[in-house]
Amino acid sequence: MNINNDFFWGGATAAHQYEGAYLEDGKGLNIADVERGSRHGVERKIDNQIIENVYYPSHEAVDFYHRYKEDIALFAEMGFKAFRMSISWARIFPNGDEKIPNESGLEFYDKVFDELAKYNIEPIVTLSHYETPMHLVQQYGSWRNRKLIDFFTYYCETVFRRYKDKVRYWITFNEINETMNKAKPYHQAGIIFKDNENKADVVLKASHNMLVANATVVKLGHRINPDFKIGCMIQYPMTYPASSKPQDNLAKKLFMMPDYYYADVMCKGYYTNTCTAQWERMGGTFEQEDEDTLILKEGTVDFISFSYYFTTTVKLNEEQEPVVVKKNPYLELTDWGWSVDPIGLRLSLNELYDRYQLPLFIVENGLGAIDEIDENGEIQDDYRINFLSSHIKEMIKAIKEDHVEVLGYLSWGCIDIVSVGTGEMRKRYGFIYVDKDDEGNGNLSRKPKKSFYWYKKVIESNGRYL
Ligand code: BG6
Repeated sequence: MNINNDFFWGGATAAHQYEGAYLEDGKGLNIADVERGSRHGVERKIDNQIIENVYYPSHEAVDFYHRYKEDIALFAEMGFKAFRMSISWARIFPNGDEKIPNESGLEFYDKVFDELAKYNIEPIVTLSHYETPMHLVQQYGSWRNRKLIDFFTYYCETVFRRYKDKVRYWITFNEINETMNKAKPYHQAGIIFKDNENKADVVLKASHNMLVANATVVKLGHRINPDFKIGCMIQYPMTYPASSKPQDNLAKKLFMMPDYYYADVMCKGYYTNTCTAQWERMGGTFEQEDEDTLILKEGTVDFISFSYYFTTTVKLNEEQEPVVVKKNPYLELTDWGWSVDPIGLRLSLNELYDRYQLPLFIVENGLGAIDEIDENGEIQDDYRINFLSSHIKEMIKAIKEDHVEVLGYLSWGCIDIVSVGTGEMRKRYGFIYVDKDDEGNGNLSRKPKKSFYWYKKVIESNGRYL
């Protein structure tokens, strides 16, 4: 198998990390707007309202809102075939529960999609990328509450109808599986646990609501435009057993159950044995409505998109639970402690394709690193080129040698944007440098790095130049 000429080479972003203009033209607050910046290893502080004189990285981010034309022209110069972005839910419905959408918000995305169309760049649009409106969190308890299914469906219906001739590829929830993996599923589900609640129950209930919402909008989207391709999105945590001990292999299986939990339901349309076993492991319960079985069955996704950054190594502890081994001796770590593992990407593609036999889409991969501007004013980011090149090579092997169907490769943070994990700017992923620091200083000017010219050649040669 070869890489098709219509392979989607490009890059990916998310509104809250990129757009800024956090209250402009009627946008409401979302969960990212009250999150402060931090450092590697230090948890980001979340406020329940905006505090005066505190710096919040999302408020200005890197100002795509006002600079989209310049940025899209740069993406076009690199030869992008596709660009992943998210619609900020609170730009369309500032509180999340209105009946009438915010026309200025809708117009902004019209302009962005029209600009992308000018250069034949396919928009790949995430509907919910860590951007739940604050009001839904504070008034309704976020995805704990079944009402969120209706609010989300109405928001999706609004944007599906509005952009039905401008957008074909949609992604529902970003990294939905992190709802179960993270100790605090704030980004994924807008949830901060209360002291008196059973965490397992809350996670299962919120996940169920999100899975029903996912299936509902997949079905709805196909009705609105049968040409829509609607995919799910997971963080794929390729996992190795720490040794060849059968117990450690079992640890891998157990460790990955939460990830297959979501993908199974979204791809197969029902709670599989992996899911029901996971309920028991977690010791949680939740209620399903009678109609949910049919909704899940009828709303399966067209493709699986996923993020891939690192791999994890696990062993089984005495309680028969998987535990993460701090360091895999065969892998280097980035400055942010993430293992670098190109072969892990090939393995991920194989594992996912073997299990689901659905087209796969790599919608995030990249290296977060500190970039220095040299005496000539250039950024020689050879480390980024090496990282991306080695990963793309393995992806190509998965396509050519393993016959895995891959729709495209979108590098994360194709322009420097705010980091989710830390709120930093210094953790840069981009081909394009943005003049802004962690305190918010900088003139936001854009500058191509060495990797910009390298990626242009990769795209031009359809992956032959690496
Ligand atoms: C993914 C998210 O988890 O990882 C992105 O979907 C995020 O939004 C990316 O930016 C990289 O993480 P970080 O913490 O380096 O920004």
